[in-house]
Amino acid sequence: MQTEPARAGRNTDSAAVLRAIRDRRSIGKCTEEIPDPEIIRQVLEAGTWAPNHHLTEPWRFVVLSGDARVGLGGAMGAAAVREAANAEVGETARSRAVGKPLRAPYVIAVYADPDPSAPEIEEIASAAAAAQNMLLAAHALGLAAMWRSGTLIYSPEVRRYLKLPERAVMLGVLYVGYPAMEPPQRERRPMDDVAAWWDSAPE
Ligand SMILES: Cc1cc2nc3c(=O)[nH]c(=O)nc-3n(C[C@H](O)[C@H](O)[C@H](O)COP(=O)(O)O)c2cc1C
Repeated sequence: MQTEPARAGRNTDSAAVLRAIRDRRSIGKCTEEIPDPEIIRQVLEAGTWAPNHHLTEPWRFVVLSGDARVGLGGAMGAAAVREAANAEVGETARSRAVGKPLRAPYVIAVYADPDPSAPEIEEIASAAAAAQNMLLAAHALGLAAMWRSGTLIYSPEVRRYLKLPERAVMLGVLYVGYPAMEPPQRERRPMDDVAAWWDSAPE
């Protein structure tokens, strides 16, 4: 039987882990300061420790900085024009879209490259867990991070720009930098509203 001290020893950092999970917030405004690539590597490394049922490690990341973000903006702008009802609306949407990737010094595209032998949902779930690992790592390292998505990010133009394989499932982009705002206050509904406990079979 496991003793109390051994349990406590195994979970020495549990308070820090739980606090990081609780305190992490999406932070959408970054300073101009560019994080050292080594810090970004730590974030990516955390992503690769996500659970994966079929040991396929289906998560993929494309790390964009500098002018690579401008290229992403161009692809998002082209998608905005295609989606628009007319040229005038398209031009407004394009000029808004092109600047979006410049909101942070690093934009990390996250997608799943599902192994055909595995249920696709599980491969996508693994890649999403990788994204959450990265958000938590960024938080722990003092970075601002925000997961963003939307039709422009899912568009064929962006997929082409990022050279995604046909079977890839785009999960979104993580904007990463140093925070230029206080973390927003967020609420969650009480855990008991979403958790059911069963200790015998239902009628
Ligand atoms: C799959 C996914 C996509 C998201 N896309 C966007 C987005 O496009 N724009 C945005 O403002 N927030 C986006 N978010 C972040 C949510 O807005 C954020 O998680 C939510 O407001 C709760 O805030 P918190 O992360 O600080 O708890 C996304 C989150 C997830 C998980």
